[in-house]
Amino acid sequence: MMQLVEIKAAGRALRLLVPEAGMPQWLETAGDANAPTPALAALEALVSRGDNARERDIIVPEATLLPTGGMGSFQWPGLAGHRDGRHFVLHFEDWRIERESSDAACLKAREPRASLALTLHLALHDDGVVVLSSRLENQGTDDFQLDRMMAGSYPVSGLDHLMAFEGFWAREFHEVQESLGAGTWLRESRRGRTSHDRHPALICGTPGLPSGEGRVVGAHLGFSGNHLMAVDRLADGMRLIQAGELFEPGEMRLAPGEAYTSPKLYICEAPDMATMRAGFHAHVREHVLSWPGGAMKPRPVLLNTWEGNYFNHDLASLKAQAEAAAKLGIERFVLDDGWFPVRDHERAGLGDWVVDPRKYPNGLEELADHVINLGMEFGLWFEPEMVNPDSALYRAHPEWALRLEGLKLLQSRHQLVLDLTRPEVSEALFQMMHEVLARVKVAFIKWDMNRDLTHVGDARGHAATARQTRAVYALMARLRAAHPDIEIETCASGGGRADYGALAHTHRVWTSDNTDALERQTIQAGLGLFLPPEIMGQHISALPNHQTGRRHALAFRAITAITGHFGIELNPLALTDVERIELAAWIALHKRLRPLLHGASTHFRLADHDGRSVYGVVSADKAQAIVIVAQRTVQVLEHSGPVKVPHLLAHAEYTLHLPGPQTGATWFRHGPPTRALFDGSSLYAGHSLGQIGFRLPIMLPESAVLIEIRRDTNEEKHHG
Ligand code: GLA
Repeated sequence: MMQLVEIKAAGRALRLLVPEAGMPQWLETAGDANAPTPALAALEALVSRGDNARERDIIVPEATLLPTGGMGSFQWPGLAGHRDGRHFVLHFEDWRIERESSDAACLKAREPRASLALTLHLALHDDGVVVLSSRLENQGTDDFQLDRMMAGSYPVSGLDHLMAFEGFWAREFHEVQESLGAGTWLRESRRGRTSHDRHPALICGTPGLPSGEGRVVGAHLGFSGNHLMAVDRLADGMRLIQAGELFEPGEMRLAPGEAYTSPKLYICEAPDMATMRAGFHAHVREHVLSWPGGAMKPRPVLLNTWEGNYFNHDLASLKAQAEAAAKLGIERFVLDDGWFPVRDHERAGLGDWVVDPRKYPNGLEELADHVINLGMEFGLWFEPEMVNPDSALYRAHPEWALRLEGLKLLQSRHQLVLDLTRPEVSEALFQMMHEVLARVKVAFIKWDMNRDLTHVGDARGHAATARQTRAVYALMARLRAAHPDIEIETCASGGGRADYGALAHTHRVWTSDNTDALERQTIQAGLGLFLPPEIMGQHISALPNHQTGRRHALAFRAITAITGHFGIELNPLALTDVERIELAAWIALHKRLRPLLHGASTHFRLADHDGRSVYGVVSADKAQAIVIVAQRTVQVLEHSGPVKVPHLLAHAEYTLHLPGPQTGATWFRHGPPTRALFDGSSLYAGHSLGQIGFRLPIMLPESAVLIEIRRDTNEEKHHG
């Protein structure tokens, strides 16, 4: 008997037809939840009609939840495997639908010939995000070789344009666009981490995607190991998005009784890009992140010591930097790489997670207590998965590194990767970190991972990336269980591990090692499509910029960083008095605006135009808004277009202000805008700001301005 599954939330319904044998078929993804439930017989007739040119017994649907081949469906399979070469055609039957609630269900089936049990999980959230995952259990008496198992699929029609993300160290989340063709679009990542070049996310839409117009379907895979994303084209021209883990040959061999569970695939189908972004942000906040104490506290402004000190840890200077930081208004002081022996450079020390007595003769407590007494939290850098051959750990246990017999060990940044699938390795790492955390009052860990994985073999010589990735998650979970108040930052040479799988165990992403404000404009916009701003690390760094050599006004650096989890990445003792005063004012401004920037506000991004980007936030009560206009290049047109501010109350009146330490000199080129615009003396209707907008003077390239819009509290009086 065919069955209909309806999953409903927020007035929307997903509908699938579950056959007696074969795979569940997608009927619709954006149905009306209140529409009457269609009669099964009528549905069957609808979907099995067609020309059936080949006169097959049955028409096999193609838009299935997890395509398998060999029984009349010929598209890219999302599930493939075999039992010693046999049972390579998997045809599931006996479907049972287990409802968890109206908005989630488990579809369960068996493959009696291959002795497999399959579970497909689907949930639709109020935020519009669909979450898919799959599980396969070997119920046979010998091993089942699983070659591929996607989390699930999602059908898309009429959106033949695709946006994906490429990049490199210090230039992550670069948006690339292409038209989908007649074949399968496929992207595989084999770096053993989420990666800089193949971030596991894509968006299907219509040409001109980033401008924000038109329906989109965004997909994100929550996984930090090898992965793949596919967009298959079906025989009727429809597209099927699939994503899941990528296995090395022989990697996923299920012993009798063993099961494989896929990572989660997150899909947000929305009428426009802004709604998609808001859906993903809400979902990450509500369902991915888990905060110490159950709720996010205001994001503490932090100082990270890396660019200001590198490996040169001078205790007296660090203490003085902490004092200067506290005076600036910094709330968390994070000690980066270099605190353990003999880490004077990147060629030694990883793996020895004990305090270097040369640099910290009285232990780390001395610095940590100093920081805490100044009213700040103390944070500490670790790179747990790695080992330098020049370390006590490696000298004692060279066999602990991932290796394959007979193959040369490949180093990257002079380091090797520890085999966390060996219980004794994970145990040793836990004990070393636990001891530091038990002694030093650490509120925050910067968890780094600075190389791709190569020759990923375990003790038996089997491929181990899948298990290594899960072992990292397990170590994070164990440390958090032992130290429940600690927050963790996920960093992999910057934004190389910024997926929802990692974020289920962490609380912040180090967005990029590139702190250049101009580059950060685009890097943050890319990642910001999937991550809410408050968990994206955004720091002001020194001049000239260490990655690019550029020199940007403090205002441009500050306005670029101010929207996210704000911080500084410089030695505060090296600031001039003028810089110190201005920096303190930016930090104070961030703290004042933080509830708006990080709260349940409406975020918007206008279409980039003539080198200019506009990002804005409107408070939930629409009484306050921020608009940030950044000019990246010299404009080509003689006049810049109006800046329109959506989402305000049409009939309310607002005033415009330039808050904080903004001086015109840093951003406009030919004279100030009409003074009256920003002095709070003029009132503008929300409707006018939305429809007509305001004009700014020609801006300097590589500059930005932050405009605060406040609802006029004397409105009644004016009208009275
Ligand atoms: C990586 C990180 C940096 C810094 C260094 C330390 O590159 O992304 O922020 O922590 O490692 O070695």
